[in-house]
Amino acid sequence: MSNSDKKKQDVARAAIEYVEYDDIVGVGTGSTVDYFIEYLKPLKNKISGAVASSISTQKKLEANGIRVLDLNDVSDIPIYIDGADEVNANLQLIKGGGGALTREKIIASASKFFVCIVDESKVVDVLGKFPLPIEVLPMARSFVAREIIKKSGMPVWREDFTSDNGNIILDINHMSITEPIKLEKELNQIPGVVTVGLFAERPADKVLVSSDTEVVELKIK
Ligand code: A5P
Repeated sequence: MSNSDKKKQDVARAAIEYVEYDDIVGVGTGSTVDYFIEYLKPLKNKISGAVASSISTQKKLEANGIRVLDLNDVSDIPIYIDGADEVNANLQLIKGGGGALTREKIIASASKFFVCIVDESKVVDVLGKFPLPIEVLPMARSFVAREIIKKSGMPVWREDFTSDNGNIILDINHMSITEPIKLEKELNQIPGVVTVGLFAERPADKVLVSSDTEVVELKIK
């Protein structure tokens, strides 16, 4: 196993501590969460079920015998576990590298407590080095791209990719996101934008960070 995989595995194992008996667990998407699903498997008869943030996660949960619940049938998600592409010291995130940002944001918003699991490479001072994913209705692609250019962003169409919701993704390059909440609101206002991969208005409640030697909680600035 590579060093990077070991860090993902370590932080995924640490997140299991936050899952309690009878919980409905929101489950994110990505390679770090894949390890979390492995650790959730032995608890499958102790939890009430899981709500998946993508079709890929749903399939992995089902393959591990974990009961998958529809969000519409669930009133309370006590805990959501998910990775991120970048994290700052206010626990604000960039997500959507895997294209699952819309369902991830819905479940994060519907959850009481969001534990984000990352390795140390994801922690940054200022968000934006990782291209910011935006999910967009296909017919609005060029319009939204032009609006983003007006805001000094460099949108790149993620070609050959369709989201679970049938939409496209624009990745915005070269942004130094000094006011994440403001930018999230502004981008959300562009007609045709479905979801912005900035999780700033609803940040994580806790971020666990793994290094070669330990898993620590990220200190809030
Ligand atoms: C999925 O769309 C993303 O939001 C993931 O949470 C993010 O890309 C982290 O993925 P990894 O755990 O694979 O780095």
